[in-house]
This record gives sequence, C-alpha cells and structure tokens, in this order.
Amino acid sequence: MEFSALIQARYSVRAYKPDPVPDAALQQVLEAARLAPTADNRQPFRIVVIPTAGREEALRRIYSRGWFVQAPLVICVCTVPAEAWARRKYDGKPYADVDAAIVMDHLILAATDAGLGTCWIAAFDPAAAREVLELPAGVEPVLFTPLGYPADAPGPKRRKPLADLCRVLPG
Ligand SMILES: Cc1cc2nc3c(=O)[nH]c(=O)nc-3n(C[C@H](O)[C@H](O)[C@H](O)COP(=O)(O)O)c2cc1C
Repeated sequence: MEFSALIQARYSVRAYKPDPVPDAALQQVLEAARLAPTADNRQPFRIVVIPTAGREEALRRIYSRGWFVQAPLVICVCTVPAEAWARRKYDGKPYADVDAAIVMDHLILAATDAGLGTCWIAAFDPAAAREVLELPAGVEPVLFTPLGYPADAPGPKRRKPLADLCRVLPG
C-alpha cells in the first residue's frame, strides 16, 4: 500500500472476524517489528504471540473488553529495561518504552498493509499479563494488540489541527 494510504487506512479495530491469520502475513508483521529502530540499536524488546483459542478466560483477565479475544491472535510487545539505552549523560531518561512504541507501530502498519486489523492497548492489567504470559523477571509488558481481520469499519479520524500540534520556528 502507498504510504499515505497506509496511514489513512490504519485505525483502532474493535471487532474481529475469527478467520485465521496466514502464517506468511504473521511473519511479515513480525519482520517489520524486528526491523524497527531502537535507541543505540539495543533492541531491548521481546514479542509474545498468543493464539487466543482456548485462552479467552486468561486473556480477559489481562484486558476485559470482549473484542480483545475475538481475533485469532493477540500480540504483546515487552521491554527489557536493563538492556535499553538511557540518556545517562544528562538526565538518565530511559527510552525502552519509546523503543517498544516504535516496534508496535512497525508491527501495526505492516499488519494494516496486509489487510489485518489491530488496536493499541495500554489499559491492561500488567500483573495479570505477567502471570498469564509467564514473563521472567526483568521483562515488562508494555503494549498489546489483537491481530486479525476487521469486522468493523473505520470512522472519521478525529485529530487536532496541525497548527495546534506543530510550531515551525522562523528560518
Ligand atoms: C499508546 C496507546 C495506547 C492505547 N490504549 C488503548 C486501550 O487500552 N484501549 C483502546 O481501546 N484503545 C487504545 N488506544 C487506541 C486509541 O484510543 C486510538 O488510537 C485513538 O483514539 C485514535 O483512533 P484511531 O486509532 O482509530 O485512529 C491506544 C492508543 C495508543 C497509541
């Protein structure tokens, strides 16, 4: 898909068909995530792919909205903060979460390109996620998305005008 069409096409899908995700499409989406840039190229992330069938109850403990378990797959992007770059020279600001967001964005845009639906999810229960995904110490769940074919349609994009968001300094 052409890039600006891809950006227009992505939306938060909150209803999914049960149709399986072809393995080739999943691999394409995961490869896009793998190629994401990260601070100092540390790649301080891990991706967990979770088939939803038979795990609905456990997944609902993580995020209770019904559509979360409608898709055949749920994906979690985790960070390993100890591996991540931080701006230690100045203020110590950690960048692991920024890296995770870029990974998820690559993954989501690749999914859109493959005709798949996704929805960023941050409002999940991290303790439940840690337990259900059996995450080892030092690995933090940061973002989830379902991955499957959309069963809804996009609405209008509600965004602030660019003038409220961007300031161009005089040249
Ligand atoms: C970091 C992040 C976290 C989000 N968390 C949730 C969430 O927990 N649940 C949800 O339904 N949507 C969540 N969203 C989706 C946003 O509400 C959505 O992207 C925004 O309203 C714009 O709509 P659009 O994605 O359809 O363009 C999240 C989005 C981002 C970027």
